[in-house]
Amino acid sequence: MRGVDKIFETTSGHVQALDAIDLTVAAGEFVSLIGPSGCGKSTLMRLIADLDAPSAGTVSVFGKTAKQARLDQEYGIAFQSAGLLPWRTVAANVALPLELHGVASAARSGRVAELLDMVGLSDFADRYPDQLSGGMQQRVAIARSLAEQPRLLLMDEPFGALDEMTREKMQAELVRIAAETGAAVVFVTHSIPEAVFLSDRVVVMSPRPGRIREIVPMRLGVDTRRAARTEELREERGFFEMVTAVREALHGETPVTAGPRGVETR
Ligand SMILES: Nc1ncnc2c1ncn2[C@@H]1O[C@H](COP(=O)(O)OP(=O)(O)OP(=O)(O)O)[C@@H](O)[C@H]1O
Ligand SMILES: [Mg+2]
Repeated sequence: MRGVDKIFETTSGHVQALDAIDLTVAAGEFVSLIGPSGCGKSTLMRLIADLDAPSAGTVSVFGKTAKQARLDQEYGIAFQSAGLLPWRTVAANVALPLELHGVASAARSGRVAELLDMVGLSDFADRYPDQLSGGMQQRVAIARSLAEQPRLLLMDEPFGALDEMTREKMQAELVRIAAETGAAVVFVTHSIPEAVFLSDRVVVMSPRPGRIREIVPMRLGVDTRRAARTEELREERGFFEMVTAVREALHGETPVTAGPRGVETR
């Protein structure tokens, strides 16, 4: 993203959601976005995914426009709300991107079974989304986003509705999958430890209008490769040091003056 601004025109005037965003994510890199509610994280993700257009600046994905990248199905997307199709079963939801891409039926069902197993939902393949809990729906959305082994995964608080145990398990799985497939990941979270555990770099944003306040590289000890991100990491000193670094960047020189967290102004 180069010099990206996003301004929303509303009846009560205009809302500057993003201001002069410059961000480059390398192929295979894992980058998390963290910042107060309403600072423009979801907006930024929607611009990368070509679900909305910037007011100024450019977004390019693998050297193409965001639109072309979307048409070429370079993305896997798991956003804040699961966004499942209620009339399709769990298995059929996960199979959708494969269907759209013309994957043969036999290969499709094999892949769907593998993905459902990974997110622990094998027994729910024939259920419908409204028969699942919120966290289970999110896991279906995660499985669907991984179906095609995209080169770029866009995940907006995908683990928000999960219990702590499942969340840590999914984090470990995601690290493994990203390393295995070499996918780049842009990941939004409100959890500092989650960002530290997962990321190569953590992008800390300021309250609206969203700007990049600081980009904190994760230095988690001698071997910072993702393969080394095991459960033990969560208890290591380097991990706590990085949590502190991100927390300090987040609270920063300028105090967070936005409204109470979680309160949307829209
Ligand atoms: N379609 C829209 N029309 C008008 N304003 C919008 C629109 N979408 C977002 N906004 C505003 O842009 C700002 C950024 O919203 P965004 O959803 O990107 O925040 P966020 O960082 O994802 O917050 P959260 O952590 O709560 O998910 C907010 O002030 C919001 O009210
Ligand atoms: Mg959001």
